[in-house]
Amino acid sequence: MEIIVVKDKFEGGKKAAEIFKQEHDSGAKVFGLATGGTPETTYEQIVASDLDFSDDVSVNLDEYVGLAPDDEQSYHYYMQHHLFDKKPFKKSYLPDGTNLDDNAETKRYSQVIADNPIDLQLLGIGENGHIGFNEPGSAFDSTTSKIHLTDSTIKANSRYFDNYEDVPKYAYSMGIGEIMRSKKILLEAFGKNKAEAIKAMVEGEVTTAVPASILQKHPNVTVIVDEDAASLLNLD
Ligand code: GLP
Repeated sequence: MEIIVVKDKFEGGKKAAEIFKQEHDSGAKVFGLATGGTPETTYEQIVASDLDFSDDVSVNLDEYVGLAPDDEQSYHYYMQHHLFDKKPFKKSYLPDGTNLDDNAETKRYSQVIADNPIDLQLLGIGENGHIGFNEPGSAFDSTTSKIHLTDSTIKANSRYFDNYEDVPKYAYSMGIGEIMRSKKILLEAFGKNKAEAIKAMVEGEVTTAVPASILQKHPNVTVIVDEDAASLLNLD
């Protein structure tokens, strides 16, 4: 893993946007995208850049089950607002939270990923080490599935909702096996609350108890962390 320590999330967003540009310039066509607070500065920098995705495809990691695309808390809405309105792709895929037939939806989305092999996958990380919505205990070879969110994830994400009860309890998420098939992975983490998860991911044992630890086995991972998120790492 290549670890890049930056001053703050703004410098991190700049660095990440540069990596998007490099990969795009060297022929990347399919971009795996993430949501949450972490990638916001990256999307700001991409929007301000001359990157043109009109010939490219995006594939998002996850979506809450039960939320429609026009729901302000949905990841569809987030992507539209932070990126797609300003930098449209030829085609953008996200899991369909309104499809309550989870068998059909997870099968459909796995097929989308199989048909569009990801060149560059952007990731954040949960405080409990989750990637996408793959919570601790998820199998490393998992494909898209419906995930029962843990209490810690619901609490962490409740900051975007009026109250805890409003946070959906289930999400559709790209599986760890599918994330691992991406050609390159770029993971970002900012803030003290991510320091434990980053340490476990980079220096801990590879274990399903820390889903992100499997990234140690991927041949092309870049991690962008600010000083707070890097504060527990043994860097020389
Ligand atoms: C959410 C998302 C993840 C994200 C993580 C961290 O639950 N499903 O894709 O990386 O949690 O979110 P944030 O960046 O807001 O801290």
